[in-house]
Amino acid sequence: MANIQFKVQPGGTIKGRIRVPGDKSISHRSIMMGALAEGTTTVTGFLEGADALATLQAFRDMGVEIQGPENGNVTIQGVGLRGLKKPSKPMDMGNSGTSTRLLAGILAGQDFECELIGDASLSKRPMKRVTDPLALMGAELITSEGGTLPMTIKGKGGNLKAIDYTLPMASAQVKSCVLLAGLFADGKTCAEEPAPTRDHTERMLNGFGYEVSSNKLNGQRMKACLQGGGRLTARHIDVPSDISSAAFFMVAAAVSKDSDLVIEHVGMNPTRTGIIDILKLMGADLQLENFHEVGGEPVADVHIKYAPLKGIHIPEELVALAIDEFPVLFVAAAAAEGQTVLTGAEELRVKESDRIQVMADGLNAVGVDAQPTPDGMIINGGAQSQQSGEIQSHHDHRISMAMTVAGINATDEIVIDDCANVNTSFPIFLDLINEVGMSVKAVEAE
Ligand code: S3P
Repeated sequence: MANIQFKVQPGGTIKGRIRVPGDKSISHRSIMMGALAEGTTTVTGFLEGADALATLQAFRDMGVEIQGPENGNVTIQGVGLRGLKKPSKPMDMGNSGTSTRLLAGILAGQDFECELIGDASLSKRPMKRVTDPLALMGAELITSEGGTLPMTIKGKGGNLKAIDYTLPMASAQVKSCVLLAGLFADGKTCAEEPAPTRDHTERMLNGFGYEVSSNKLNGQRMKACLQGGGRLTARHIDVPSDISSAAFFMVAAAVSKDSDLVIEHVGMNPTRTGIIDILKLMGADLQLENFHEVGGEPVADVHIKYAPLKGIHIPEELVALAIDEFPVLFVAAAAAEGQTVLTGAEELRVKESDRIQVMADGLNAVGVDAQPTPDGMIINGGAQSQQSGEIQSHHDHRISMAMTVAGINATDEIVIDDCANVNTSFPIFLDLINEVGMSVKAVEAE
């Protein structure tokens, strides 16, 4: 693939009214559940990024008829829980951890064997977190010795054992994998998590008429359960805009003088809104307007204006609720007066890149005092601290976009290497960031 560099000019005032593309997590799940449902599911606002398209292609490979995507519209001819067919070749998950881990749960319940492969970044990410619970359910999964892709899944033909599983880490992908495998199990399957994570799987299953109970246990712990052997009924899904994509624009507006931006129709699921709480704690001028609900998910317009930010100790209970937003939150912390401390976020080390190390390196390269710690980061911020620099994205879309936003407060051009990966979650990022007032060019490096 060509090396696309982003060349970011410093400065810019962020203004306008924009809509960012559909939510990645909900887009993945709309295809999965639409395929497993009985009847025709229609989707609007589907994210046409490489990750969600990898999920869509996988279900086509398993014989599901899918029309689109066209302008975010997708139609899925559901085949029911027993209707998937053995794919003729290994299924390519690209860069997408969500596709891989959720599919593993579904594939464990099929009556065929298949293989999942992925790109260089995905092939380094841990899969033991899903093979462990699936093995307890009686499934046979074979990974590389290091517990990574390629992964062969020998389906158990719907004869999985129901389990009551306690997740060792707060992960919506692992929780969803267990619950989706539970559809094919012989009783009640439960997934208990140490802290609440995004609950789109539970909400969408309920929306497809499949009952999932979700209970708060003591402290932060949550437990979701379902009975195997039911059925999903097709429906319409309107995918809200992705708060994780909106986050880049929220921070861009929060840290550049005179900015005033509205981001419309953003998903406000309370398991995803940690970014809003954290920015507010830092002193951001952020209002939520026009609150309403689309298909079981709350949405609102985010109105954000420039205000001086201050450093904070990020409350640990917000970590799982903002897990994908830390790259750009580190950029907010770099612009904030004083110290920002993040703890309890070791999961960041196993994302598309090691987001603690890679962001510390990126911020250090532009002159920010950012010290990585085993489970977080300490950033001594201040609006004047950023210089020019050259940065590596390490195959990680959110690093490319976060460091682009860092360019606003730089003193000279920032060059970010390897930015084609932005297509995984946000194909129109460059157009939108220029539209609202930054100056960023994509060039093919020699
Ligand atoms: C996701 C869960 C999160 C998140 C990822 C999407 C999902 O991963 O980082 O981008 O859609 O379930 P983890 O479950 O690994 O935290």
